[in-house]
Amino acid sequence: MKQQMFKKSRLAWLVGSAAVLLYGGTAVAAELSVCIDKSSPTAAMDSGLAHAIATQEANTLALHEFDGSGGGDDDGFSMKEFGKLAKATCSLVLGFPVDADSKSTPPGVLATTPYGHTGFVLVTPKGSKATTLDQLPKNTDVAVTYQTTPNLYFVDHPGVNADIHLTDDDALSALEKRKVHAAMLWQPTVVHYLVGKHEAARFSYHELDEPHAQFNLVALYDAEHAPAAMEFEKAIAALTESGQLAKLLAPYAQAGLAMPSSRGKSAMLKRSAVEGGIDRLCGSKKSSAKTDATPPALFTSTQADSGKIKYLTYCAMCHGPTLQGRAGPALTGPNFASAKAKFHVSEVFTIVANNMPATSPGTLAHEDYVEIMAFLLQQNGYPAGDKALTFEDATKSKVKLLYRAGPIDNK
Ligand code: HEC
Repeated sequence: MKQQMFKKSRLAWLVGSAAVLLYGGTAVAAELSVCIDKSSPTAAMDSGLAHAIATQEANTLALHEFDGSGGGDDDGFSMKEFGKLAKATCSLVLGFPVDADSKSTPPGVLATTPYGHTGFVLVTPKGSKATTLDQLPKNTDVAVTYQTTPNLYFVDHPGVNADIHLTDDDALSALEKRKVHAAMLWQPTVVHYLVGKHEAARFSYHELDEPHAQFNLVALYDAEHAPAAMEFEKAIAALTESGQLAKLLAPYAQAGLAMPSSRGKSAMLKRSAVEGGIDRLCGSKKSSAKTDATPPALFTSTQADSGKIKYLTYCAMCHGPTLQGRAGPALTGPNFASAKAKFHVSEVFTIVANNMPATSPGTLAHEDYVEIMAFLLQQNGYPAGDKALTFEDATKSKVKLLYRAGPIDNK
């Protein structure tokens, strides 16, 4: 599920033809060779920065462009490809965004110290006083793009409504036409779109203090190019000192390091407090693994049965009759309820009850949502029992949602 959320957040870069612009060609003076993704909304910023770094280092620049868009193929640029680029094509890959909350970089490559930060922002028309989700008037529709991280933020902010669009352009166009008065989108995408239409002055954006909203920009490199990375860091320090860095990154990103979100932190603290408590009660780590192996019975089989019919009526057109996913993501299986996603029943239920069905969120009766949740749990391998699930239980349940039927990856 995490994977799906990130698919559209510019981490899914695809390899295409790599246009290679070699200046000189022979090994004369020292050369800085940099890879940039020409399909990224930050391409202009990345190339501007590459030129400034080369000038600072008194090196010639060899700019290698790769196409991360994949031309409609949605398989994504595999993270491994960055290793290949960094090893064989260039000494630095510029502009790679690293989630400030999870800090994961592609395998096999190293990352420089972050030189700037960007991320998902709250976009509002100029003049709006709200700078956070909670400051928006109650029931404001907030445009987001399908399968991007900000879809998750509605769970913690029930006062605003999700207005889900298939593409960033659709979400932006809803905002531009004032069909909605706020949107949560990837800052470089917003800037790219609005600057292109000469409309940047009509909107303001605010960094979101939410989990996985803040990203640091780093250059990726292979260990054998460590000297180039050190030179890069020195050049960045000089550009920071002279005040040039901030200008080179604006308006796509800000100079300096992003702070991890305070929400992410408090959620993490809460989670470890709960787990610590369970561990203390049960005595050892082994027993918490045992808790995972025998999931509690949260609902009755009658609930799951009528939940199935309601699921088929209200949800199947988007999530598929066997929950395999269609326009909406799969709702069963290890990709949905994976250990990585760290979902609890309450979180999934809140998404279902507040944001679903995507076309008319929150319109079903409480009982319908509860029975559909019972069906979802059943389909993910949870047993039925004697006690019926209530709306309140489902909203509060801290039981972990982990797919248990079929081939489980036991980690
Ligand atoms: C019109 C299409 C549509 C309908 C109908 C619909 N959904 Fe969704 N659903 C979506 C889309 C699109 C997403 C992905 C949104 C996002 O990015 O979070 C989604 C996301 C979800 C998620 C979060 C999954 C995840 O991996 O994060 C759950 C749970 C869910 N839907 C349950 C339901 C249930 C239950 C119903 C029926 C009450 C339902 N949906 C009806 C389109 C739909």
